Amino acid sequence: MKSLKDTFKLNNGYEIPCIGYGTFQTPDGDSVVNGVKEAIKAGYRHIDTAWFYQNEKGVGQGIRESGVKREDLFITSKLWNSDRGYESAKEAFEKTMDNLGLEYLDLYLIHWPANKKQFDNAEEINANTWRAFEDIYETGRVKSIGLSNFLPQHIDELMKTAKIKPMVNQIEFHPGFAQIETAEYCIKNDIVAEAWSPLGRKDALSNETLIELSKKYDKSVAQICIRWVLQHNILPLPKSVTPSRIIENADVFDFEIDNEDMKIIDDIPYCGGQCADPDEVDF
Ligand SMILES: NC(=O)c1ccc[n+]([C@@H]2O[C@H](COP(=O)([O-])OP(=O)(O)OC[C@H]3O[C@@H](n4cnc5c(N)ncnc54)[C@H](OP(=O)(O)O)[C@@H]3O)[C@@H](O)[C@H]2O)c1
Repeated sequence: MKSLKDTFKLNNGYEIPCIGYGTFQTPDGDSVVNGVKEAIKAGYRHIDTAWFYQNEKGVGQGIRESGVKREDLFITSKLWNSDRGYESAKEAFEKTMDNLGLEYLDLYLIHWPANKKQFDNAEEINANTWRAFEDIYETGRVKSIGLSNFLPQHIDELMKTAKIKPMVNQIEFHPGFAQIETAEYCIKNDIVAEAWSPLGRKDALSNETLIELSKKYDKSVAQICIRWVLQHNILPLPKSVTPSRIIENADVFDFEIDNEDMKIIDDIPYCGGQCADPDEVDF
């Protein structure tokens, strides 16, 4: 990857720009509108939102006010957990499209798998939700469909009934929580892995090992984290509402972390982030 315009190829032929702009915890209104516009001005062409973030309206407004053509942007949203199931997923998709004010979505993800801790019929719920996703995909109103927070066992289970293979799986991935096995499983199965909280929700930025590496490469710790994700062939989704940081987080194409340092970052022990186990969460 050499610039923000470079892409990962999805298994259905579409291309997804190699760094996405995250919007979790960015309030709706001016904050998200300005953030999206700043990101697009800085060259980002990929925006990540979700129904749960309660800012889809502002994301849509930011896109419309950005001056960049819709077809040159890649927009992702996600189905929240309370909307799982065939009919409710279809209804939730309509609400998301109304909020965004878009004619089509580039990528729609199941935000979290239903788990057995909460549901005896978790597999059936996930299969029914996916069936709705497949039907929406067939209408052409979403160009690609995928998953988030699905571990290999959840994907294997889903594939027993799926007609369409997911194009993406978005997982938590940052120094101190490198879910390399799950990411490699996705890549091996031709599913693009995306990294949420690539900065560990900023907790990784005070890690001593990363601070040392940042001095060595003369880049910020955030840039080291984002570059490390990219060098794992994973698509990072850094979030910032701060214009200078939005630019900084995209300035990661002029250096390379060597193999030895990649391994050092891989082995950093827990240093923050959410680090939730999708089989254990109760939301
Ligand atoms: N699928 C899921 O379940 C899921 C879950 C969580 C997140 N996500 C997605 O992944 C995106 C990123 O994750 P995240 O928002 O949790 O965390 P993150 O991107 O790891 O960290 C964001 C935090 O880091 C700060 N920051 C950003 N760039 C910085 C820099 N260069 N220097 C210093 N601080 C910096 C931001 O502050 P300011 O904004 O104040 O600048 C913010 O506090 C989300 O926005 C969302 O789109 C998905």
